[in-house]
Amino acid sequence: MHDASSSNPHLFVIFGVTGDLAQRKLLPAFYHVTQQEGCEADAFLLGVGRRSWSDAEFRQRAKDALGAAGIGTPEGNGWCNEHVFFHGVDDYESDESFAGLRARIEQIEREHHLPKNRIYYLALPPETFESTVTGLGESGLAHSEGWTRLVVEKPFGKDLETARELDQLIHRHFHEDQVYRIDHYLGKTTVQNLLVFRFGNGMFEPLWNRDRISRVEITVGEDLGVGSRGGYYDTAGALRDMVQNHIIQLLSLVAMEPPTAFEAEAIRSEKVKVVRSITSIVHHDVVLGQYADGSIDGEPVQGYLSEPRVAPDSQTETYAALRLHVDTWRWHGIPFYVRTGKRLPARTTKVAIVFRDAPLPLFRAFKDHPVPNVLVISIQPDEGFDLFFEVKTPDRDFRLDTKRLTFRYQDQFGRIPEAYETLVADIVAGDQTLFVHRDEVEASWKLLTPLLKHKPPVAPYEAGTWGPKEIYDLLPDWVDFCLREPAEADEGGSA
Ligand SMILES: NC(=O)c1ccc[n+]([C@@H]2O[C@H](COP(=O)([O-])OP(=O)(O)OC[C@H]3O[C@@H](n4cnc5c(N)ncnc54)[C@H](OP(=O)(O)O)[C@@H]3O)[C@@H](O)[C@H]2O)c1
Repeated sequence: MHDASSSNPHLFVIFGVTGDLAQRKLLPAFYHVTQQEGCEADAFLLGVGRRSWSDAEFRQRAKDALGAAGIGTPEGNGWCNEHVFFHGVDDYESDESFAGLRARIEQIEREHHLPKNRIYYLALPPETFESTVTGLGESGLAHSEGWTRLVVEKPFGKDLETARELDQLIHRHFHEDQVYRIDHYLGKTTVQNLLVFRFGNGMFEPLWNRDRISRVEITVGEDLGVGSRGGYYDTAGALRDMVQNHIIQLLSLVAMEPPTAFEAEAIRSEKVKVVRSITSIVHHDVVLGQYADGSIDGEPVQGYLSEPRVAPDSQTETYAALRLHVDTWRWHGIPFYVRTGKRLPARTTKVAIVFRDAPLPLFRAFKDHPVPNVLVISIQPDEGFDLFFEVKTPDRDFRLDTKRLTFRYQDQFGRIPEAYETLVADIVAGDQTLFVHRDEVEASWKLLTPLLKHKPPVAPYEAGTWGPKEIYDLLPDWVDFCLREPAEADEGGSA
């Protein structure tokens, strides 16, 4: 939520810089942030990987990464030549690796007169987090005369026990105020806008409770399958990959009480109260699924069990729908339906607030109308929101139709920053508001671990549909019409 433009000289160290995340997201995001006014000369990047590349070889890859992100320019190439370095290690285990790294960091800081402000970003597979954090701690890199920050990607553990172990290890070497746990959903402008929408607009706050809202639906759909990540995904599944982090974060922003101030501590403490208030999840409130053969956009796609590196008899869920109950004064009795899955008809993340019907059903004679008013907050891909409401059509005979008011960021503001740009800027600025506190991680694992230990069986669903038919037992009338973008809906002839 901050810009990083006050002069804040530092060295940004990316572990696993040869990987997908670093190349696609972090290098372009870091470049963008350094181009903000006042930062140009102050920020340097050191990529770390298990390769014997020279600085020049890595700089070429960094230029390619900027090019692939559509921001390759002669200025960007010049920036890479002067601000980007590479350090090869044999592994993330040995004392020698970290001693060598320390020497390299100190050399760059000396040569560029940097004040020992350091960011360590673990863009590494989770199985390497432990040895890397230990290596940083034992080599004396966890603290310096400047500030030192550690950035940890998701997944943060596999369950409550492993998350606690990782947390204890991190706190052996770093203080909580040095730790930035990433859930990149929190970097999205629309997710942050949830706070402004709720607490900056007087008209919505009186409606935001069990008296006016009948339910909340959160949908996080992906049209892609597991692709090349089958090996990882088959050990994780949708509950770990999506529900424990992104969906719980979205839910807590929708359901939280107003913070006492617009500050990291106050906001995070309200969010964690929501997670702690969710009652234990029972099987009756859960549907798990796994995609079978089907088609997306008219193209046939294969089922999960035929994907590379997936066990042929895998019971891993690629889909999860849950009915959750947030047992607070504000939400008592109001269900929160959440669902997420792979190989759904569209890539979409939407929060639908479904309002109660008007008290007197004056128009009950009209078939299929009125439908409830729905406010849809569209997190991606078309960031914005829609308000669905009933209107009388202009026809002479009295008829009702559902129409929408639409706001799209793109139409009003043009380009909006990538989530990682916002997060990198905040790490540089030292603002932890958009990062997940240890208490939040622990609370969400506490909620989900019993379910992970005793999962209901997975039901197959055809790829290209919204999930197994059992989700309609959970909720017969999901507001699926709200998932269509305005242009698609126009083609279909209704809202
Ligand atoms: N990719 C995404 O969009 C995304 C999104 C959200 C979260 N994440 C998380 O971000 C982290 C990095 O993701 P990624 O997709 O970039 O991962 P990745 O491509 O699989 O791995 C990143 C780098 O880590 C190094 N590495 C791989 N296996 C290793 C091992 N066993 N020991 C030591 N180093 C190893 C490799 O670099 P060298 O061979 O050069 O050492 C590799 O290029 C993961 O924790 C992932 O869950 C990624």
